[in-house]
Amino acid sequence: MKDILQELEDRRGQARLGGGTKRIEAQHAKGKLTARERIELLLDEDSFEEYDMFVTHRCTDFGMEGSKPRGDGVITGWGTINGRMVYVFSQDFTVLGGSVSETHAAKICKIMDMAMQNGAPVIGINDSGGARIQEGVSSLAAYGEVFQRNIEASGVVPQISMIMGPCAGGAVYSPAMTDFIFMVKDSSYMFVTGPDVVKTVTNEVVTAEELGGATTHTRKSSVADGAFENDVEALSEVRRLIDFLPLSNREKPPVRPFYDDPGRIEESLDTLIPDNPNKPYDMKELILKVADEGDFYEIQENFAKNIITGFIRLEGQTVGVVANQPMVLAGVLDIDSARKAARFVRFCDCFEIPILTLVDVPGFLPGVTQEYNGVIKHGAKLLFAYGEATVPKVTVITRKAYGGAYVVMSSKHLRGDINYAWPTSEIAVMGAKGATEILYRSELGDPEKIAQRAKDYEDAFANPFVAAERGFIDEVIQPRSTRKRVCRAFAQLRTKRKQMPWKKHDNIPL
Ligand code: HXC
Repeated sequence: MKDILQELEDRRGQARLGGGTKRIEAQHAKGKLTARERIELLLDEDSFEEYDMFVTHRCTDFGMEGSKPRGDGVITGWGTINGRMVYVFSQDFTVLGGSVSETHAAKICKIMDMAMQNGAPVIGINDSGGARIQEGVSSLAAYGEVFQRNIEASGVVPQISMIMGPCAGGAVYSPAMTDFIFMVKDSSYMFVTGPDVVKTVTNEVVTAEELGGATTHTRKSSVADGAFENDVEALSEVRRLIDFLPLSNREKPPVRPFYDDPGRIEESLDTLIPDNPNKPYDMKELILKVADEGDFYEIQENFAKNIITGFIRLEGQTVGVVANQPMVLAGVLDIDSARKAARFVRFCDCFEIPILTLVDVPGFLPGVTQEYNGVIKHGAKLLFAYGEATVPKVTVITRKAYGGAYVVMSSKHLRGDINYAWPTSEIAVMGAKGATEILYRSELGDPEKIAQRAKDYEDAFANPFVAAERGFIDEVIQPRSTRKRVCRAFAQLRTKRKQMPWKKHDNIPL
């Protein structure tokens, strides 16, 4: 009996060694942790329950029968993050470059199926040379099985991808279909075709880092939602994110203890808006002052900075925030910001996370580039996302809310539940200058007359009261009491029930 027990331990020890000490050292030399070390840091201590440790590939081509590493290049199982269950797979680059075989993919599929059945997020740690070349089409088929599960799990359980090494070719499409992608600077990349192919086909010379590194994907392409300095930071930030999210679409987001008075008054907010309407101010200040303990988890911080997206807590409960940022491009909506915010709103809606929208928007960005690249369709994404979202929606207009952008930003007309405005709000079709130049074109030669017309327009329309008279704004509130009003609004909406008409699914303008 003792021998058998010892044999099990020996087999486990062998499996835990992955590709062996030399390859582990090579992994460390690149500044990367091993697949197992990553799991250890991601999960609560001693909470990892591993499955399929003894799985091996079944390939007999290219002399593969001679080498059958246990676990087949991926470690799978479940554990907890601050006591809440998550499923994990972590590709082991030390075993055949973490390449994906039929059995490797089957292990991933197994835990994805469990996650969907039992209702818990899936966190995938990607570090792989892609499809296992020796297995040919079987490996492609196996990837297809993972893709299909990514699609089925979408909106059922949160799916998070961590890119911590190579991720190339069709392999990028599994992370692409998950809810959030996080990358590690200088040690991870994602691209459909690498620098060599790019050089051959388009004659462009580019490094792997430039083509698909963390900076590229968080600043240019928006493929990734966050970039971190190293493995340790990335793993601890994902732990922080999980704390904001529900485990599945069957559950509400978690409620954390909070030590911040929901009625907290912030007098400094009364002077946040500058006297000059064209002067910017930092919308993040408002977010931080409204949030419990000033805790804000920003998503896509470095892309389309004219809109801010992320999670806060109010009275311990998760709330998604979407806010125009007057500091960047005066907070206009454009293609990038509309896409960024629309995806965020849809994530919140499918996982029952209420949405707080903070509005200071002068309109949509004009320009040939915007029109040629489809600002109509991309802008419609945000409009559509807000209109279809049935979660509690609370909106605060701080200053400008002009034209179509006013309607888009979770207005009453898109079923905003509670719509507040600060006294500094200007809710109108457009700003005074633009309006008077259109309405009084014949008087443009007379600057004095035009200035008077602009002043008259401002007096009449550059305020929240016209909208408030019509009930489009529920209440004009003091900036200092924003946290209190918003907390009370969401508290009132905790029992909200709203459904859209039955349909197979909608047809959002993609
Ligand atoms: C089998 C692979 C492999 C693969 C790497 N290895 N990729 N084995 N299939 N796809 C093995 C290597 O042979 C090597 O084995 C070990 O992993 C480590 O690889 P190295 O090349 O030594 O590491 P490094 O220099 O760091 O380079 C990493 C790499 C490179 C850039 C990822 O290995 C590489 O270019 N691999 C091929 C990538 C690729 O073209 N994959 C297919 C993409 S298409 P030994 O025994 O020597 O240590 C794809 C389609 C998916 O994935 C489609 C889904 C529908």
